[in-house]
Amino acid sequence: MLTIDKLNFSYGDMQVLWNIDLQVNEGEIVTVVGANGAGKSTTLKNISRLVKQTSGSITFQGEELKGLESHQVVERGLVQVPEGRKIFPEMTVLENLRMGSFIKSARPDRETNVERVFSMFPRLKEREKQLGGTMSGGEQQMLAIGRGLMANPKLLLLDEPSLGLSPLFVKIIFEIIQEINKQGVTILLVEQNVFQSLKIANRAYVLETGRVVLSGSGSELLSNDHVKKAFLGM
Ligand SMILES: Nc1ncnc2c1ncn2[C@@H]1O[C@H](COP(=O)(O)OP(=O)(O)OP(=O)(O)O)[C@@H](O)[C@H]1O
Ligand SMILES: [Mg+2]
Repeated sequence: MLTIDKLNFSYGDMQVLWNIDLQVNEGEIVTVVGANGAGKSTTLKNISRLVKQTSGSITFQGEELKGLESHQVVERGLVQVPEGRKIFPEMTVLENLRMGSFIKSARPDRETNVERVFSMFPRLKEREKQLGGTMSGGEQQMLAIGRGLMANPKLLLLDEPSLGLSPLFVKIIFEIIQEINKQGVTILLVEQNVFQSLKIANRAYVLETGRVVLSGSGSELLSNDHVKKAFLGM
């Protein structure tokens, strides 16, 4: 579904991604794990065209993304839920969700998708009139994911959805990710919660200072010595 081939990227003079190869097959949950500054968010931003690679190619369902802008990849079903949620604080929960279906292809499904999001996140339904900025951190993450679902994603890019959440909310978020996947959405997940994300991933990549240093099935990486030492404190 998504193929990244020898992706290189620099912010100005500073190269931060080096020959990244990565693949996501339809129906999978794929996770990219790595420490702060490894280049996880930058990789996602290249996919969603928020930044543009210096060299290498990214194809989605056979189409090269190089010439496309971010709204065009959203139209094709490639939707990113950004790091730090980025919800609209002065808008209500419902208004935030509706903003997620701004693209033409998602507008006809707006009302059905609102219902779909509300059934997945009853908490959002209870608080549909509350201002986004007054929701708790965990609720805002639910809202950010719900807003992403409003765009009819085929591939959902999630950037650290569990960051800063209590153990209970972390558990809920990882359950929700699996539920979304079961409903037919392919997932590319970036996480620092290495244990949880490897547990739910079909396949995974380990990124270190802008390079892929390991890849394999989630269970392979969970039992890998380097992963255990570097990320799981074992
Ligand atoms: N806009 C920018 N301008 C210059 N350098 C940047 C910019 N954004 C990120 N970087 C640098 O690129 C490198 C990779 O950053 P990136 O945000 O992709 O890491 P990350 O793996 O997502 O880290 P974290 O887990 O902390 O979110 C870092 O060294 C960072 O300082
Ligand atoms: Mg990041």
